[in-house]
Amino acid sequence: MSTDTESITTDPSTATSMSGSEMIELCRRHTLFEWSAQAAVDPIPVARSKGIYFWTPEGKRFIDFNSQLMCVNVGHSDERIVRAIQEQAATLAYANPFMATEVRGRLAAKLAEITPGDIDVFFFTNGGAESDENAIRIARLFTGRQKIGARYRSYHGGTAGALTLTGDPRRWGGEPGIPGVFRIPDFYHGIKKGFDTTEEVLSRTEEVIELEGPKTIAAIIVETVTGTNGILIPPDGYLEGLRALCDKHGILLIADEVMAGFGRTGEWFAVNHWNVVPDLITMAKGLTSAYVQLGAVGMRRHIGDHFQNNMFYGGLTYNSHPLACAAALAAIAVYEQDDLIGNSRRLGTVMRGLLEDLQQRHPSVGTTRNIGLFGIVELVRNRETREPLAPFNGTSPEMQALVKFFREEGLYTIVRWNTFMTNPPLCITEAELREAFAIIDRGLEITDRAVS
Ligand SMILES: Cc1ncc(COP(=O)(O)O)c(C=O)c1O
Repeated sequence: MSTDTESITTDPSTATSMSGSEMIELCRRHTLFEWSAQAAVDPIPVARSKGIYFWTPEGKRFIDFNSQLMCVNVGHSDERIVRAIQEQAATLAYANPFMATEVRGRLAAKLAEITPGDIDVFFFTNGGAESDENAIRIARLFTGRQKIGARYRSYHGGTAGALTLTGDPRRWGGEPGIPGVFRIPDFYHGIKKGFDTTEEVLSRTEEVIELEGPKTIAAIIVETVTGTNGILIPPDGYLEGLRALCDKHGILLIADEVMAGFGRTGEWFAVNHWNVVPDLITMAKGLTSAYVQLGAVGMRRHIGDHFQNNMFYGGLTYNSHPLACAAALAAIAVYEQDDLIGNSRRLGTVMRGLLEDLQQRHPSVGTTRNIGLFGIVELVRNRETREPLAPFNGTSPEMQALVKFFREEGLYTIVRWNTFMTNPPLCITEAELREAFAIIDRGLEITDRAVS
């Protein structure tokens, strides 16, 4: 077990009462880590964080090249958000969700301003999964229909309904899941087969809708830009076409922007790239930049109005929690004050150049994608056959060696199957971005040696 004592940058203010190995030992003994057999987990002990960096108790510094779970969008330890949480805690730490509070009202009004089209009414939750659960509920109550379509290459959360919507292998352990979920086609099929055209995927989607029975379908849910399943940017025309198919059949379109929202793609919300207004939009993560947990379902005005005289069947003790609402308002102010959406767009262009450069110089780089500061590298064993460097839902010695190298060199990011992510906080500077890519550049010498 590494205790990360090999220091890159030592910062004495990281002192905690526990050492890194003590933290790891206690957490492993008494807690379960996510999506893992516990014997295989190898956590990094974290003591403090600032900007794009975090530190172990021993002072080893990491570049956070995944914004933790693609959520600390504004960067770590922003004093403006910390102060807003402290002030709210001192004034009103909690009020139950039947009460009205200033922060709840002000946050919803602000979200109505920055979300697309006539999305105007919000239900607050504790995170992404609960937002998707409530989006399903709202779609069913509003349409009087039951079925929900979702894609295989997707993740929508770890609770019963959200995990049933989820198409990736994390779903398997939660099956059979909730009734009424069916699959619509994906537009990407892995590095070997690549992308469908817009026409192909839309025509197969229409066929599935017809076979399922359009009048039985309440909603279709898609990650606008797919996150952990590969930073999959839809081909132009896809979202517009999906919107038109939904309109034709009275089906609601739910955009899951839990990961893609709040500037990650260089727009407030990814749907803005294609000027599509979904009926329901789910968000979490960047909403507070993860300073306090909060999610929300946004809905178009006429859907919100439906619940004026029809019961809204939904509730959570921590709905509209004042500390979370205060954190979200402060985070949104930081996005605006520091023009972080613009920074994501501008540095997304720099990232594009850096990714292309990697692809030119490293034979193991099969392809790269990014939109704003939402990026991925897919590695291959062979550029002609495009055989991935690790199988679907698996790993390989070479990918493991890359994980080890990044860890030793102080670069934290998600390495999954044959891919790794490039998703830094949106406050990153060009120099910091280049610093991270210089580490990646050296790491890829390891994977290049596997190429035949
Ligand atoms: C697109 C998407 N939807 C939903 C979720 C679930 O969010 P949470 O973990 O906050 O429940 C995630 C989490 O990664 C996500 O990426």
